[in-house]
Amino acid sequence: MTDQAQQASAAHPAPPEIPGKPTSASRTTLSHIMTHSDTNLLGTVHGGVIMKLVDDAAGAVAGRHSGGPAVTASMDEMAFLEPVRVGDLVHVKAQVNWTGRSSMEVGVRVMAERWNESTPATQVGSAYLVFAAVDADGKPRTVPPVLPETEKDKRRYQEAQIRRTHRLARRRAIMELREKRAAEGFED
Ligand SMILES: CC(C)(COP(=O)(O)OP(=O)(O)OC[C@H]1O[C@@H](n2cnc3c(N)ncnc32)[C@H](O)[C@@H]1OP(=O)(O)O)[C@@H](O)C(=O)NCCC(=O)NCCS
Repeated sequence: MTDQAQQASAAHPAPPEIPGKPTSASRTTLSHIMTHSDTNLLGTVHGGVIMKLVDDAAGAVAGRHSGGPAVTASMDEMAFLEPVRVGDLVHVKAQVNWTGRSSMEVGVRVMAERWNESTPATQVGSAYLVFAAVDADGKPRTVPPVLPETEKDKRRYQEAQIRRTHRLARRRAIMELREKRAAEGFED
């Protein structure tokens, strides 16, 4: 077992019968040419169109990694860095950054290039999504631990672990505040 695999299994013990899967096994790119039907009132591409592509690409990755259905639990830090225009060929690149027991963080990078020019693609967005693998009843099921392969994969794994810690801490802090306010008699 690699150091990274040991680290993954120590932090998130999964049943030993589920072997790990390397990051590259589920990495996916979804490409789409933007047309006039994708625009907002300003004439550039609607953010929701990009978000759907992000969710689609991340969902494909989560399904491939977990070997079955997976649902979006959350979408974090969706950043739009540059406007996307009609005639842009958009590439949505997604990979599993981190796995827990039944959840997976998928990192997504959105690139755009003119559909008919040979200039290099530029990054126009990024996002992190958490997917939960579910069984036929919609209940969470265990996923294989992801096995980061490259130094970049390992950095992404470590950064995803930080985001996971912050998500849990934020949710806990908000629940504690709500309970405290309720105990003090405040009504929403
Ligand atoms: C996501 C869902 C399956 C979680 O079910 P649950 O009964 O809350 O189960 P759990 O609390 O055990 O959570 C399962 C995993 O998801 C993670 N998770 C749940 N909600 C989360 C959230 N909002 N953000 C990040 N992670 C989340 C948990 O941390 C847990 O991870 P782990 O097993 O790796 O430790 C359930 O809330 C659901 O079905 N949501 C609707 C999903 C959907 O329809 N998506 C499409 C939106 S249109």
